[in-house]
Amino acid sequence: MEKNLDFDKIENRRNTKSLKYDFAKKKGMPEDVLPLWVADMDFQTSSYIKEALNHYIQKGIFGYSEVQTSYFEIVRDWMKRHHEWNIEEKWLVKTPGVVFALAMAVRAFTNPGDHVMIQSPVYYPFSEVIKNNGRQVVSSDLVLKEDHRYHIDFKDFEKKLIENDVKLFLLCNPHNPVARVWTKQELEMIGDLCLKHSVMVVSDEIHADFVFKGKHQVFANIKEAYKNITVTCTSPSKTFNLAGLQISNIIIADPKMRRAFRKEIQAAGAGLLNTCGLIACEAAYTKGEVWYEEMKKYVEANIQYTKEYVQKNLPGVTMIDHEGTYLVWLDFRKTGFSHEELEKKIIYEARLWLDSGAIFGNCGRGFQRINVACPRATLKEALKRIQMIL
Ligand SMILES: Cc1ncc(COP(=O)(O)O)c(C=O)c1O
Repeated sequence: MEKNLDFDKIENRRNTKSLKYDFAKKKGMPEDVLPLWVADMDFQTSSYIKEALNHYIQKGIFGYSEVQTSYFEIVRDWMKRHHEWNIEEKWLVKTPGVVFALAMAVRAFTNPGDHVMIQSPVYYPFSEVIKNNGRQVVSSDLVLKEDHRYHIDFKDFEKKLIENDVKLFLLCNPHNPVARVWTKQELEMIGDLCLKHSVMVVSDEIHADFVFKGKHQVFANIKEAYKNITVTCTSPSKTFNLAGLQISNIIIADPKMRRAFRKEIQAAGAGLLNTCGLIACEAAYTKGEVWYEEMKKYVEANIQYTKEYVQKNLPGVTMIDHEGTYLVWLDFRKTGFSHEELEKKIIYEARLWLDSGAIFGNCGRGFQRINVACPRATLKEALKRIQMIL
């Protein structure tokens, strides 16, 4: 039976090498800030995952490892069950994390100096992996409309593809930080433009298991032609809170693309994976269903709580309509604070460590991203602290 279903429990994560809890001072924050920034959860993972890892650790031998077909079958069954996607064994390439895979894709499918397109505001490593590999970032910024949702300006999207001779597009679906779950129609418009202009796509679907409105569409699965231009990034790490174990399952159907991608991994000397990640993934996808469903309900209730709290108690703050991910995007621009004032108030008066909107691109100034995958009491405390500074 699943044992870790008490999501109200406050875990002490201090002194656990936690990036979220133990590095405030090093990162220039007051030591006592309440952290709701980086995307990991304050919940213990499934007890089945703990058991599987305990079993492995008890052996006391930590040699090199690889997986058999059964690993692929487990990943395949999860994708089929949750996302109606049938993948083949040869399509699977495992990597130590999704950001690593993004970097490998940039290196495999573009040349130094080429333009790679993103949609700001977006998860900041998207632009980092482009710049750090000597490529150029071009953004077709998302547009926030009256309905409190972000939209794609398809005219601008196509114009930027053409003007910059873009070779690769990094799609974030669901989109962190604006919480959109792209519709099939939107994805088809993206896909058709990419096909028309010979642009390859990396579809980062790490948040696919957190969809609260609408339905997650695997981009590569919408049309046969998309499958042949796409690298799909998946991982149990967000879903089961395994980010520290560095495991992701990258799906590439096209043999030429797969070869180029694998070649970059070889060049980086990163052929093997952390055994704990492989073991955790197997346990998560075979035995973690109850934990996942319950955790998702809890997070959904946190999102609803945040929405109501913002409406009732945070004048000038708007919560962007939330469709997916456990990262909520708050618009503070009507509070009257400048971006810099807001930052100072959040950190030094509210003593909160959130993710500043500006790190996701210039168009994120005046926004804050708040991670609501935490006990309700932690969330309540954070929202109360925001209320106090307004
Ligand atoms: C869109 C997106 N991609 C990738 C990652 C991180 O992936 P990994 O830890 O596997 O590198 C995150 C984490 O927040 C994310 O939001």
